[in-house]
Amino acid sequence: MEFHVLTIFPEMFKGFLNESILKKAQGKGVIKIVLHDIRDYSKDKHRKVDDTPYGGGAGMVFTPQPLFDCIKAVKKIVKKAPVIYLTPKGQRLTQFRVERLNKKFTQLILLCGHYEGIDQRVIDKLVDMELSIGDYVLSGGEIAAMVVIDTISRLVPGAIGSEASHEEETFSKKLGRKKEYPHYTKPADFRGMKVPDVLLTGHHAEIAKWRRRHLR
Ligand code: 6GU
Repeated sequence: MEFHVLTIFPEMFKGFLNESILKKAQGKGVIKIVLHDIRDYSKDKHRKVDDTPYGGGAGMVFTPQPLFDCIKAVKKIVKKAPVIYLTPKGQRLTQFRVERLNKKFTQLILLCGHYEGIDQRVIDKLVDMELSIGDYVLSGGEIAAMVVIDTISRLVPGAIGSEASHEEETFSKKLGRKKEYPHYTKPADFRGMKVPDVLLTGHHAEIAKWRRRHLR
């Protein structure tokens, strides 16, 4: 899976990409993340990418020129990738959508908005899909893009090991969240708080039964 991120804050991704499992996954070559600084495409001598909205109102809006040129340049590298605009008015990102994106595409272009939004002509001509990560407003699309990258990457074989695939089986569509049993590790007695005996027995059938009973 290859992610192309269009942002005015590429530095925001450095820690996220270099301190997590995503670093290993990139090292192994199973995922690739390419950052594109939208300001690099500004024709303005001060690298300006925004302006006041026609019709008035609060805030600033991304101008079309840098976005058109940036998206065009990225599409030259990735020809079949959909352009996904991260916006609070987009469709909600669910585990189902994460899995569908992972199955359907091998490359994604993630456009991070800011201010009041982007010029509508960019959405009309170049955006294929609008995604939101929840019912709240972030100051920009970068954190949302990281959520998209993280949720999809953990499904890519070899990215974090083999665990994720069967973990998805415990994702409850009815509850809209992942079902989990309680986890314990060493020591078996921590300051008087004990790990349930059955987990120490090595009796796999009994352990599986206990875990099924404690799925929440
Ligand atoms: Cl994708 N962007 C912004 N700015 N805010 C959000 C969001 C996205 N998803 C939820 N809130």
